[in-house]
Amino acid sequence: MHDFDYKHGKLHCADVSLKGIAHELGTPFYCYSLPTLKRHVRAFEDPLAGVDHQTCFAMKANSSLAILAFMAGQGLGADVVSGGELYRAIKAGIPGNKIVYSGVGKTTDEIDMAIHAGIMMFNIESEQELEVINARAGKLGKKAPISIRVNPDVDPKTHPYISTGMKNNKFGIDIEGSMAQYLRAKNMENIEIVGIDCHIGSQLTEVRPFIDAAARLKALIANLASLGVELRYLDLGGGLGITYLDEEPPNPKEYCAAIIDAVGNLGLKLIFEPGRVIVGNAGVLVTEVLYRKETAAKTFIIVDAGMNDLLRPALYGSYHDIKPLEEKNGETIKADVVGPICESSDFLAKDRDLPNLIRGDMIAVMSAGAYGFTMASNYNSRTKPPEVLVDGAEYYVLSKRQTYEDLIVAENIPETVR
Ligand code: LLP
Repeated sequence: MHDFDYKHGKLHCADVSLKGIAHELGTPFYCYSLPTLKRHVRAFEDPLAGVDHQTCFAMKANSSLAILAFMAGQGLGADVVSGGELYRAIKAGIPGNKIVYSGVGKTTDEIDMAIHAGIMMFNIESEQELEVINARAGKLGKKAPISIRVNPDVDPKTHPYISTGMKNNKFGIDIEGSMAQYLRAKNMENIEIVGIDCHIGSQLTEVRPFIDAAARLKALIANLASLGVELRYLDLGGGLGITYLDEEPPNPKEYCAAIIDAVGNLGLKLIFEPGRVIVGNAGVLVTEVLYRKETAAKTFIIVDAGMNDLLRPALYGSYHDIKPLEEKNGETIKADVVGPICESSDFLAKDRDLPNLIRGDMIAVMSAGAYGFTMASNYNSRTKPPEVLVDGAEYYVLSKRQTYEDLIVAENIPETVR
């Protein structure tokens, strides 16, 4: 469910016409709906009422400061994977003790920063990382709270690039080896074991893999308890999928109920790290048709947004629905929607049935609120688009369009090249 609908033939976000925003800000731009975000947070949180839990929004999906500030206001924490994300989370008002830190490549500086921030826990992804965190905590005269990210070896049945919990993935510590790491951690002077964690993949459309992973962790928790390792947190990661085309993922209520059922009464606080399910369908990317090009083989609709703005189609072959900002009846065409970037993978839609789009028309690329702006780049020296947030009849600019000056601000030309 989202708030992007036609009113009098014009696509609106809540009560604001997307075309109106385009006239004021130009294209392309990202537009997020605050009412949708609120509904999605409630849809996730309401089924967990009465369950001891903390939801830590996976901010890699959308790390806009304003959106993080909104999450903070809703009581959510953050799942961070870099010093930059930690910095943003803190700036947006997310308390340190609601932040979990995942990722296989934490640097020494990032580890120090997180220890200073008093985070809830590091999700440890390797034996060496555990040693380094122990050493850093010792240096800083603190204890570092940790959980081990266990790789439970379950098939999440999603795109291979976003599958993370199988044996051949780089993430976590295999379930067989995790016990030994817990026992090592137990004897480390500056480590406090607080939890156990897993995250098996993203855009999951079935509940089964989550349940299988939870069951494997549950067995491990029992073994740990028998060896005197007591935990406080069970972190089940994120990964719940959304509908881009015709996927039918479990809704958050079904997902939460299934997890609560699988976990049973362990007496642990449950940690969730949803990203996409909260923000994915709360955002769109609006772009204008620059040209229509007919070749012997195909029709191309060339728009002013490309893989630099929304990488998902190029990287994963992802489907994003395309809606014209003004409803068009009558003739339809089959076409590729492509961007201006000099790469053949620069497409937003392939062989798509579309309304009869012509130069000057505008379209919304739907379901772009997650992994849209956060994966945007300056490739081909294109500036990043602005992000706006709609609430009722108002919209607010969350980030401005980059300028050409922004593109070169950090650069230097040493005399030696001249
Ligand atoms: N927790 C951890 C440790 C993660 O690595 C991720 C996503 C999440 C939580 C949130 O997963 P979500 O609830 O959003 O599925 N760029 C890809 C998705 C990569 C996901 C990486 N990790 C895409 O555009 O589909």
